[in-house]
Amino acid sequence: MSMKNSLKENTPYPFVEHLNKNQNVVWDYSIKNYNSALYNAFKIAGFSDNIILKAKDQYLHLSNNKKILDATSGFGVVFWGHNPVNAVKIEKLYRENNLINYSKTHPTIAQSALIHNLKTTFPLHLNNYYFGVTGAEGVEASIKLSLSYNKNSKGILVASEGYHGKTLKTLPLTSFQKWRSVFTNENKNLEFFKFGDIESLKNAKKKLDDKGVKLNCIITETIQGGSQRTASNTFHQELQNLALKNNALTIYDEIKVGLLRTGKLLAFQNYKNIKPDIVIVSKPLGMGLHPISIVASSQKIFNKAYASIQDGSIHSSTFSGLGASMAIASQYIYEASQKDTILKINKLSQQLENVLNNLQSQFPKRIKKITGIGLFRGLELNFSIISNQLGLDMKKIPVSFASLYTLAAVRFLYKNGILTYFSPTEPEVLHIEPNIKFTENDFKLLEHNLFLFFKSNQTKNMLKIVNDVLKYKIRLLK
Ligand SMILES: Cc1ncc(COP(=O)(O)O)c(C=O)c1O
Repeated sequence: MSMKNSLKENTPYPFVEHLNKNQNVVWDYSIKNYNSALYNAFKIAGFSDNIILKAKDQYLHLSNNKKILDATSGFGVVFWGHNPVNAVKIEKLYRENNLINYSKTHPTIAQSALIHNLKTTFPLHLNNYYFGVTGAEGVEASIKLSLSYNKNSKGILVASEGYHGKTLKTLPLTSFQKWRSVFTNENKNLEFFKFGDIESLKNAKKKLDDKGVKLNCIITETIQGGSQRTASNTFHQELQNLALKNNALTIYDEIKVGLLRTGKLLAFQNYKNIKPDIVIVSKPLGMGLHPISIVASSQKIFNKAYASIQDGSIHSSTFSGLGASMAIASQYIYEASQKDTILKINKLSQQLENVLNNLQSQFPKRIKKITGIGLFRGLELNFSIISNQLGLDMKKIPVSFASLYTLAAVRFLYKNGILTYFSPTEPEVLHIEPNIKFTENDFKLLEHNLFLFFKSNQTKNMLKIVNDVLKYKIRLLK
């Protein structure tokens, strides 16, 4: 049905009326008036025959009554499951009792509840907090904090192939080379190192020295979110030593991997003797109901940077610290610190590892590597062995073979009731990120369908994707 037919009138209507609109209207509006490239890309991934009406725990409920197992954890945001009971209870408590949600002039009970839970669960030195709204805001606030802490130095070292956001100041730290050059000039205070590569780290520092720029901070994800690449303990230690030697700070961006997704409350706790000066967390904290980020540092750092009354609000933002978001985040930290939760995550992580190991031993030629840690995991696919199957001149097609094969996986799995994803900049890795509501049966479903995918010949599926890519004139990155 076209949009013209499905919309009777050109007048606004109350929200509840819109709930009954045909799914085509939902897709049409998003493609025509929101972002055609993005939603056409989702069409290519095979998502367009439906819309998601409801979501609970690990399942998405589609308009055709189909149930989809969400193996993305909503990129981390719904790690506690969709609409988790305890978060919904707090939300109701707030709304039904008119508890204070917005106050910029007074501290709130919810804010102090969150501070209490952070102080009692985070490493002792991380005892000062800024509450922001988005991840990128957290990254910007961290860099401001570090530049204010040490005003005599401006140099930043950042891991290449990383992701820290898309605002104008975080984009230069993010790996999209193409966009970086469109929106920002090369930053003379910035140098890149290869994550996990000590020599590259030292070289990047030397490049700053050669330019006469003093090192202010080193920023990295603890585990790179797109590729799920990890680094050795030695690498993290060398990074820390380099910062210490230069009176610089280390900033660990745990927006994607923090808060128990790797089995530890903070992902850097998987490594020995690592003590980042500033840590940023965000995605799962609002339990899928609220956007919230936290920049955790020490009182020493915060006070040196921001202690004077004039400087106290160097960084602030309108929607930071909303009551219900603070309350839900404080519940998250409480639940994440409980023994039962940690045991559960360990058990689920083991179940996932078994699934991925079984698959790799059955398809050693298709699966190069199991990536990630804990419940933040994926499979690095080996597409080279089938790249000849298609008989296409890939130079003429605006999509890499890696994207094509991984898209084929996403599409195949979705058709069979499982949602997965990959990062367009790192298309070799199919992300498989269960949330904590997964059951043994869910893991069985996952294993069975991945087995079917690797066993099947995907030529037809990939040719269909090529057709769609050309039809929608989409260029997939890389
Ligand atoms: C590691 C990391 N840093 C920063 C960000 C930016 O967060 P936001 O999109 O909330 O601004 C993201 C988002 O995906 C991320 O994964």
